[in-house]
Amino acid sequence: MLDRQRTTGIIPQMKKRILTGDRPTGPLHLGHYVGSVANRVKLQHDYDTFIIIADVQALTTNFDHPEKLRQDVLNVAMDNLACGINPDKSTLFVQSMVPEIAELTMFYSMLVNVNQLLHNPTIKTEAAQHHFEEKMPYGFLGYPVSQAADITFCRAHLVPVGEDQLPHIELTRKIVRKFNAMYASVLVEPEAKISHVSRLVGLDGSTKMSKSLNNAIYISDPPDALKRKVEQAVTDPARIHPKDKGHPEVCAVFAYHRAFNPKGTPDIEDRCRKGTIGCVQCKRILIDVLNSFLEPIRPRRADYEKHPDEVWDILKAGSARARTEGARTMDLVRNAIKIDYFPFPEAGKGHF
Ligand code: TRP
Repeated sequence: MLDRQRTTGIIPQMKKRILTGDRPTGPLHLGHYVGSVANRVKLQHDYDTFIIIADVQALTTNFDHPEKLRQDVLNVAMDNLACGINPDKSTLFVQSMVPEIAELTMFYSMLVNVNQLLHNPTIKTEAAQHHFEEKMPYGFLGYPVSQAADITFCRAHLVPVGEDQLPHIELTRKIVRKFNAMYASVLVEPEAKISHVSRLVGLDGSTKMSKSLNNAIYISDPPDALKRKVEQAVTDPARIHPKDKGHPEVCAVFAYHRAFNPKGTPDIEDRCRKGTIGCVQCKRILIDVLNSFLEPIRPRRADYEKHPDEVWDILKAGSARARTEGARTMDLVRNAIKIDYFPFPEAGKGHF
């Protein structure tokens, strides 16, 4: 019997707080794992951890397919739980169920100028990927402002993320400094925490593993899909025969060894450079390594797949806690901006 994690329990208040999360555009892949999930699983023991499933942010590029969101929210939640996020320790919640985030976004939008957003390198890359050239949705351009609200609504100190998120954390810090200086010092200025492998290359060797580039290994991939993907992964194009000397630095398979097989990596590197291990054998070793990494994760995920109601309950409890924190922050924010005209005790209550 698997010990499915329970939703009850008191979350200690004295710890410093983390906020991190993902856009639910599909299940999470190994790039998400090494970039952020691994870190949050480790850090949840020492920090009061909030994990956002940013469904509104996903809508900024998928507004024409909202019907996918429900399944993707569920997938991202199950991936987090299967990888070891414990709902007794961490608050896993859905962005759109915390309206305080939208409210905060509106107040922040006055503190940002449009040029800052147009020059954001992550926005530029993603806008090109989605062919937004002349018709950039306002909500897409503004999502970093909403992300600043995601991070600050619960007064988070630390944001464990992959490298591509740094421009957004920088913007968040700017907004916080401006708000605190202009109104009153009530917001916490967060810091980014980048993991040691902050970006994983795709199976095709391109710079980033990503769903839209169709070059990802998913945490939920069964063994046969995993095997097929690794077998087809791009290696050093200069190696034609197994005895040719290799250049591991250009090889996707080697990058995965580095991320998931740190002990075996020096030996693989040495043998690849000398031409004493062929790509086929090197891939076989990697398949074993990835299967043993996924071995404890797969049955946990399968168990949640059989009990989706339990996952929705976890998200509901997490979203309720997030709303409570959001309401506290909004009290401080409204007071700082001096738009707290009258008390409204029922606000933020009764939705859950
Ligand atoms: N932008 C992040 C991504 O694309 C997801 C995200 C939304 C996030 N809000 C956040 C990450 C707040 C860290 C903190 O993966």
